[in-house]
Amino acid sequence: MLESAPISVPVSGKNAPTPLPPMGASPTVDSITADRAGVSSLPIVPTPHAASAVRNLLYIAQEPDQALVAYLKGLGWKVSAGTLATQANVLKTDTPVAGIVDMTSFSARELAALEPALRHQRAGWIALTDDNRLADPVVCHLIRHFCFDFVKGPFSNSTIGYLVDHAYGMVSLGDIDLAETPIVFGDEQMVGTCEAMQQLFRTIRKVANTDANVFITGESGTGKELTAVAIHERSPRRKGPFVAINCGAIDNQLIQSELFGYERGAFTGANQRKIGRVEEADGGTLFLDEIGDLPLDSQVHLLRFLEERKIDRLGGRDPVAVNVRIISATHIDLEAAMASGRFRTDLFHRLCVLRVDEPPLRMRGKDIEILALHVLHKFRSDGRRKIIGFAPSAIEAMYSYAWTGNVREMINRVRRAIVMAENKLITADDLGLGHCTGIESTTLAAARDAAEKRAIELTLLRHRHKLSEAAAELGISRVTLYRLMVQHGLRGASMGNGADAG
Ligand SMILES: Nc1ncnc2c1ncn2[C@@H]1O[C@H](COP(=O)(O)OP(=O)(O)OP(=O)(O)O)[C@@H](O)[C@H]1O
Ligand SMILES: [Mg+2]
Repeated sequence: MLESAPISVPVSGKNAPTPLPPMGASPTVDSITADRAGVSSLPIVPTPHAASAVRNLLYIAQEPDQALVAYLKGLGWKVSAGTLATQANVLKTDTPVAGIVDMTSFSARELAALEPALRHQRAGWIALTDDNRLADPVVCHLIRHFCFDFVKGPFSNSTIGYLVDHAYGMVSLGDIDLAETPIVFGDEQMVGTCEAMQQLFRTIRKVANTDANVFITGESGTGKELTAVAIHERSPRRKGPFVAINCGAIDNQLIQSELFGYERGAFTGANQRKIGRVEEADGGTLFLDEIGDLPLDSQVHLLRFLEERKIDRLGGRDPVAVNVRIISATHIDLEAAMASGRFRTDLFHRLCVLRVDEPPLRMRGKDIEILALHVLHKFRSDGRRKIIGFAPSAIEAMYSYAWTGNVREMINRVRRAIVMAENKLITADDLGLGHCTGIESTTLAAARDAAEKRAIELTLLRHRHKLSEAAAELGISRVTLYRLMVQHGLRGASMGNGADAG
């Protein structure tokens, strides 16, 4: 890193504008956080909230520089300056905070104790340091893993002012991206801003208002079950049970008793009455997942139930009336199954009064990136490192990959990357998608580092390792060149050649 050119880290593949304007006006989601019982409408379009007037800045130092504090206040920051012990409450909110940590004023042990604060997900830190401190591995570790940038003294207020603005913008960027994650269902969120997903949300809203059976199609992992839950939670049946059964996961022999239950003594081993899933869902919604796998025998029973609205428990004498709405789903081609006689057409018409199609993830455009950020936001505390976004290589790979496992696959890949990532930005390799990108998966800092090393090497060669000449060509002092050579492991070569290494 050159003394006068602080390096900034890119965030989430969006070219973060530099410098960023104050980010207090980040739009946030105007969505309903619905509990299972209380949903009445489906919020879809995010509405920007009024600008939050306060931008907090935490300045951790043994003896804060009062001129810097005054300067930052002049820029509109609400500055809390002092040791962490006196100012820790600033980090207790869930709003973004810019941070300055003066590493020159703490001992290595005190600095190590700052790590939990530096890890804080909503704080964007700038480190103030010097050459001495940069020789300390603890300091390097803290800067590399938890700070957006660092500056070496003598410090210029305007540089610091610019950098904290940038760091604050970076941590606020998460809010902007996540503002586009509009629907909340109980504990789950259904992310979708593209036209196909907006259409899906409109369909969910309409379908929820009726009591007709619904049939959901879509590739594996596209969100069929999530959609079923969403319909139930927005339907007049929401106070009733939502019972899901995976028709593909139950043994053919057992599916009938699982669906319709049995009476005590119905067969050997039936020691007590068992209520079937259909009856369990009385008053609510029955979700028949992988309906295409339902054996033909059970298809007949299900059809009879749909016609009569009564079930016969195995070994029971009297039919039992049950009031359920059926939502079914499949990832197989049911038309083909009907054509080949594996699925009853009459049952299909009973089940498929209303049809919902889930778009595959690869067709959702920008939602791919938004979903990835959503998953990162949800699970980032799983990782040891503070991960701030996706490297350009990861973004590129996400858009070119086919996502045959759809959202479920995306969740798995991002969760694994959060644990495996070696840096603050998740790369294509971390996602296991290194083969999907033309961009070498590297951080900007690593690329600059490599370019700097290469430039020095070539210049040294050209000037036969005469440091004064090489430094003059590179536009830096001889002392700086020497330091950079040490940093890049180039000093041995120069000394070995008996060069002017002073
Ligand atoms: N739009 C979405 N936003 C956020 N999370 C989603 C979205 N769609 C699906 N998910 C999540 O992806 C995972 C898979 O969703 P779901 O189980 O509903 O898919 P599915 O189509 O039923 O899959 P399968 O065919 O494998 O049964 C779940 O963890 C779900 O919460
Ligand atoms: Mg499913």
